[in-house]
Amino acid sequence: MTGIHTLNANIGNVFLIGYRATGKTTVARILAELLGWTCVDADQVLEERHGRTIRRIFAEEGEAGFRDKEAALLEEFCNNERQVIATGGGIVLRESNRKRLQGAGWVVWLTADAQTLWQRLQGDPTSMERRPPLTVGGLAEIEEVLRLREPLYQSLARWTVETAERPPHAVANAILDRLSSSG
Ligand code: S3P
Repeated sequence: MTGIHTLNANIGNVFLIGYRATGKTTVARILAELLGWTCVDADQVLEERHGRTIRRIFAEEGEAGFRDKEAALLEEFCNNERQVIATGGGIVLRESNRKRLQGAGWVVWLTADAQTLWQRLQGDPTSMERRPPLTVGGLAEIEEVLRLREPLYQSLARWTVETAERPPHAVANAILDRLSSSG
């Protein structure tokens, strides 16, 4: 599909949720371009706003300090519309965030199996420098965190798009198809 696509339904924003390395940022960029909307990478805005990497914020203020900043930014994003927002993988942990996400747009969950995610994370040269460990690290961490978070992702998602076998532009187009046929 080419050109900018106008949607019939007024859906507010599109929030991409899912674990690290499911392609949220890349898909958000492509989908925003297809819709002529603003692309927001929540983690990038947070790092710019606070002048530190997320890894450093975790080290200096703990995970709770990071989550407070993440929640404040989400509140800010929700004041606007026509944005495709790539959220951080842990945004779903707080109930207040979950309520906000559901109230301010449509939530799409990008998925992939743990092995694929592990390979992608290992292949990302910025991963070590930007992403703090969440538990024990490695594949075991991915499996553990996915087990805890999947019910939360699931409860929020209007749609789920599997990304293991699809390149980001195909994921973006799959979402666009669904958006276009809604409303
Ligand atoms: C996190 C995922 C990261 C970032 C932070 C915490 C998580 O975002 O928000 O490191 O808890 O899963 P990405 O999903 O964009 O890597």
